[in-house]
Amino acid sequence: MDTDLSRIWCVDEFEELARQRLPRVAAEYAAAGVADEATARENLAAFARLSLVPRVCVDVSRIDTGVMLFGRRHQFPILLAPCSYQKLNHPDGELAVVAGGNLAGATFITATFASVTLEDTAAASQQPLWFQLYIHPDREFTRDLVKRVENAGYEALVVTVDVPVNGPRYRELRAGFALPLGVGRVNLAGLGSDAVAGAHRPHGRDIYTAVRAADVTWRDIELLKAATRLPVIVKGILHPDDATLAMQHGADGVYVSNHGGRSVDTVAPALDCLPRIVDRVGGARPVLYDGGIRRGTDIVKALGLGATAVAIGRPWVHGLAAAGAAGVARVVEILRTELEMAMGLLGRTSIAALDRSLFWRTS
Ligand SMILES: Cc1cc2nc3c(=O)[nH]c(=O)nc-3n(C[C@H](O)[C@H](O)[C@H](O)COP(=O)(O)O)c2cc1C
Repeated sequence: MDTDLSRIWCVDEFEELARQRLPRVAAEYAAAGVADEATARENLAAFARLSLVPRVCVDVSRIDTGVMLFGRRHQFPILLAPCSYQKLNHPDGELAVVAGGNLAGATFITATFASVTLEDTAAASQQPLWFQLYIHPDREFTRDLVKRVENAGYEALVVTVDVPVNGPRYRELRAGFALPLGVGRVNLAGLGSDAVAGAHRPHGRDIYTAVRAADVTWRDIELLKAATRLPVIVKGILHPDDATLAMQHGADGVYVSNHGGRSVDTVAPALDCLPRIVDRVGGARPVLYDGGIRRGTDIVKALGLGATAVAIGRPWVHGLAAAGAAGVARVVEILRTELEMAMGLLGRTSIAALDRSLFWRTS
């Protein structure tokens, strides 16, 4: 039965719809945080702890949500965060995500562990696309992958550095998570079937995986910078010193994220880490943010604390599972509309006007 998307008002409603349509294992894979999922919960709670204070009698008859990112103007500051294996959620996988991005006018950051090749994904996109890179133990393979990304027309490289080893995702393990037939790491196909399946465990230990390098250091960021003309954004930064190091080693952007609470549990909520990183970066580079964005007011808060733009993960995954490309587009549209409403009601007409004066402090 088709869902009447115009009657879905909040992005959270898509989660229940997705659960109704997905096999349990896919729903649990998307929902999972690591261990006790404290960080995943706190990512959401951190937004509720911040109160806003509006300004009134401001002419808000024109509201501009546009932002510049790496030389390109985006009509609104919402990107689709990289989430692996979308064929778990929809038969067309990442092709349905880009179709949603096309409808919404949103940039998708497709994942190294996508279930559709980066070339096929790029061919289907009418929007600027970014690529999320996991550095592979085989650095030559990684360099070749980056060349493929450039040749396919991607506009930025997001290098994820916050999962050098696996974490205990008990929710996934309890659900018996394994990649079903027909869902694979197709971007790694050149490496042979064992590597693609990730069957091999280096050192025979569960903490390691053969498909992500455990020895990534800042030197790898330098090497990547030398190997590509694309802007390099480092994803998974929570400590201000790491923001400094990322910039010193050539990063063009800093991406504040705790992987949606999926890497190590009881890590601070991503939002709480944002202001100190913004202060450290000092406007020298764009600062991207993800983790727990579910409302337009959440976007206002992240931007008010200094993020240049935000990305959403689970919300678009749920939209895709519930209603395919149209579901992804509806999620973006809801957030975009809520963002505009919040800006108007707070008396702010541009993204530049979203600053720390938005917040009510009781002490
Ligand atoms: C199902 C799923 C798969 C993910 N896969 C990746 C991935 O392959 N690479 C990556 O950098 N982040 C991955 N992430 C993390 C997201 O990019 C993002 O950081 C996180 O989902 C943001 O939090 P939110 O879900 O609360 O919006 C994944 C997240 C989910 C939910």
